[in-house]
Amino acid sequence: MITKFPKSLNLAMKPTPIERLKNFPQLPKGFEIFIKRDDLTGFFLSGNKIRKLEFIFYDVLKKNADTLITCGGFQSNHARATAILGAGFGLKSFLVLFGKGSPKLDGNLFLNKLVGAEIKYLPQERYEELEAIMNEVSSQLKKEGKRPYIIPEGASNELGVWGYIKASLEIKKQLEKAKLKIDKIVTAVGSGGTYAGLFLGSKIFEWKVQIYGINVKDTAQIFVDRIYELMTLTKEKSKLKVNFEKEEIKIIDGYVGEGYAKSKKEELDLIKSVAENTGIILDPVYTGKAMYGLLEELKKERFSKEDKILFLHTGGGFGLFPIKENFFD
Ligand SMILES: Cc1ncc(COP(=O)(O)O)c(C=O)c1O
Repeated sequence: MITKFPKSLNLAMKPTPIERLKNFPQLPKGFEIFIKRDDLTGFFLSGNKIRKLEFIFYDVLKKNADTLITCGGFQSNHARATAILGAGFGLKSFLVLFGKGSPKLDGNLFLNKLVGAEIKYLPQERYEELEAIMNEVSSQLKKEGKRPYIIPEGASNELGVWGYIKASLEIKKQLEKAKLKIDKIVTAVGSGGTYAGLFLGSKIFEWKVQIYGINVKDTAQIFVDRIYELMTLTKEKSKLKVNFEKEEIKIIDGYVGEGYAKSKKEELDLIKSVAENTGIILDPVYTGKAMYGLLEELKKERFSKEDKILFLHTGGGFGLFPIKENFFD
């Protein structure tokens, strides 16, 4: 068993609490859910990305980069965390943000602008070109004498994954201390790094917990392939002595709903109800959909009442602001 992590910075507010989630009408009777509050890893730096960026930023500083290049949707939480963190280290950020229609200067996008990030907007149809565009920007910056550093979508590379390998040890220790046995952890999946980290963590720390992901875009199969590839790469690069099969990766399909970053009424109603009854604010793009999916799966009895489930709140609250009108008639 290894406990030697790659070098990282200490940027997130950790450990985040684990709480019992109760008293909201949509929770089917007899089920118990716990929630890991990674929406509390910071304020403007909140959410899951900061844990991944702790490892990536160590490398950024080691390589003496002066400009960060990354990408995501118009309301990307990852791009926001990168740009704000970058500003704190005196680094310029260049963001390639994609989406449909025209972007709204609100939520994460507003924060990106506030910290002075340079933004290139890309129509959704040109998503496939993202990597090439980031490479082009990088070449251009190098010609200008800059030292750019590309961070991939969602910070989900073999360094970022360590954020959730480390988080899984944090969770395991918290549960041991609280004498609480958790059988299943459920998380939203957007680029796969969070899932990959938790899964690898469960293997490395020999923890018999099952990790379930709910994809908020694409298909489950796409993520199974991507997560397997990312875990294999991480295993090779860090010489991890763990074994896993592709078949063990559990991604639950069927909750993309109306599409990536699009909300249907039932999802918004759930977010409102959870907020009103528990004070916990889910986001519309990731955690709202994942919680909606989890509750549907409880109704379908994929999980039993004996299962103790931990839902990972991965943050994303700023994504609520651009769609605030949709919550009220
Ligand atoms: C708030 C939030 N939750 C969950 C996710 C999904 O995490 P991952 O990209 O590691 O799959 C993301 C980013 O994609 C996110 O911003």
